[in-house]
Amino acid sequence: MSIKYSDQLIEEVSQRNDIIDIVSQYINLKKTGKNYKGLCPFHNEKTPSFVVSEDKQLFHCFGCGEAGNVINFVMKIENLDFFDSLELLAEKSGIDLSEYRNDGSNKEKVDRKSKLYKINREAALFFYQNLTKTKNVGIKYLLNRGLSVDVIKKFGLGYAINDWEKLNKYLLTMGYDQKLIYESGLVIKRKENEGYYDRFRNRVMFPIISTTKKIIGFGGRVLGDGVPKYLNSPESPIFNKGNILYGLNLARNEIGKEKKLIVVEGYTDVISLYQFGIKNAVATLGTSLTKNHAGLFKRYCEEVIIAYDSDLAGQAATIRGMDILDEVGCRVKVIKLNVKMDPDEYIRSFGTDAFRENVENAVPLIDYKIELIKNENDLNTNEGRISFINKSIKVIRSLKSPVEIDIYVERLSKEANIAPNVIKSEIYGNNRDKKNQYKYNKNNRKFNYKNNRYEKNLKPMKKLEKNGSIEIEKSIISLCLSSKTNYEKVTSQINSHDFLNEDSRSIFNTIGDIYKTSNKIDIISLLDQLDFEKVKLLKQIKERVVPFEDIDKIIKDLLISLKIFKLNEQIKIIKDEIRRLEVEKNKEEGDVEKIKELRGELLLLVKELSNLRVN
Ligand code: GTP
Ligand code: MN
Repeated sequence: MSIKYSDQLIEEVSQRNDIIDIVSQYINLKKTGKNYKGLCPFHNEKTPSFVVSEDKQLFHCFGCGEAGNVINFVMKIENLDFFDSLELLAEKSGIDLSEYRNDGSNKEKVDRKSKLYKINREAALFFYQNLTKTKNVGIKYLLNRGLSVDVIKKFGLGYAINDWEKLNKYLLTMGYDQKLIYESGLVIKRKENEGYYDRFRNRVMFPIISTTKKIIGFGGRVLGDGVPKYLNSPESPIFNKGNILYGLNLARNEIGKEKKLIVVEGYTDVISLYQFGIKNAVATLGTSLTKNHAGLFKRYCEEVIIAYDSDLAGQAATIRGMDILDEVGCRVKVIKLNVKMDPDEYIRSFGTDAFRENVENAVPLIDYKIELIKNENDLNTNEGRISFINKSIKVIRSLKSPVEIDIYVERLSKEANIAPNVIKSEIYGNNRDKKNQYKYNKNNRKFNYKNNRYEKNLKPMKKLEKNGSIEIEKSIISLCLSSKTNYEKVTSQINSHDFLNEDSRSIFNTIGDIYKTSNKIDIISLLDQLDFEKVKLLKQIKERVVPFEDIDKIIKDLLISLKIFKLNEQIKIIKDEIRRLEVEKNKEEGDVEKIKELRGELLLLVKELSNLRVN
């Protein structure tokens, strides 16, 4: 990002662009109850679940989870980054950006940066002309590797002459300041003598271009086998490797209907794929994937397909990268080429269709992880099967959809030859159930459940206590949503006063109202009756996995958890009160009595609590 705008501008832009106005330019909004509603532009749907709040100036899609303010909306719908969206909205509302841009303190920095961009552009042109206008070994190298003249031009490739000072002298004669040339990283300071020398000599040059089409740095490759194979520009005020994806300037316009980007390891992979018609590939600059990269992906696409080397280091890097991408909410898949080649070599050997097929067959994150776990464990031994199942369960737990979970459970069950029920009960956490333990042994006598280490890993309801009542309440509501029978089971044991959180209590009540007249909850009509905050909560509730089995037991556990939570809260309040009274210097009449009384209450509560825990 070349220019940073002030928070003041961001606020100004948000204030002058009403979210209802802006969203209405893209979709039809209808006022319903407390919010506006329409068909979500970010996913396919037939009934509206896209809610916009005028009060809060926020949008939220109940269906796909997209949410944010007016700037986020424009980013998403126009596929622009934050600053471009800001500029677009500023223009729309007649805000003069230059006012905000040149506020003195920033001016010098902005000027310096824009000079660095100019120097880099000049250098790129110089390299390009060396490559294309003179007889040189660089062009021979590139053509030999099979690169077309068109693609060389498209990526602005160049050649740095085998000379110590050519570029530096050229830039000086063009009038650039030596200090700035040095700052660009194109030259290196001499150690002994005065002066500077060119960093890149006798290398083919890959200019690194930002999404705003500025040249921010270079990668230079030796011709042949020298070391280092690649030399990159050093970090500078305009070049930060952790923030940039090579090729994104072109690929961002090629993400297609499926909104996919492919991520590869090398510059040449990006270029080759492009030449062969796969134009949506990008590469990190020889570094592993960072959170910043993930943010970039999230901004420009919905699905990321990783095509890294299949060696061990590659695998570890792949997993880390995938997790980071998954965390920011990108759909992640992996290409596993069946030969040891990088995408460049692969597409040259087998062609575009073969590569496309690999893209189509890319496996989702979960599958890839499970496959690696499988390869690490010998399923012919009990130990191997236990470890395989345990590790895979951890992976499967991260899934949100019960349908998906079911599919993977089936698969695990077949692969490890363990009953699906058993795996499911591990996943859903009702594994303290003695019945399951029995089933387990019966189905698989070889496997001694009792003395197995992973009992420690199991996640009983305890975790819920720690997260506070809201988590428990969400689970209870998700059960209530799942069927009227479940709702009735819940209400036979608690009522809305048992909810500690106001929003969940109110959703619970609304659900109750709906069940009075119907046998099913229509989410859309439920949505209409909720205000914006509750819509968000409902979205989280909907994502919750509703278990299929042992509902009664689960309800019981949840209610107990809720009670435990409430008891703990009460105990804490009473303890605090006792402590307060005890340290009081000038005790009032009756304080001692009060303390005694409170202690009595405390004892009862603690007893009740320990009874619950035993059950
Ligand atoms: P070719 O051998 O020209 O096809 O390049 P490649 O992209 O296939 O190279 P490789 O798979 O070895 O490396 C992948 C990426 O890692 C490169 O594109 C560079 O960004 C980076 N890289 C590789 N070697 C070096 C190096 O010696 N130094 C630095 N800084 N980066 C490197
Ligand atoms: Mn290569």
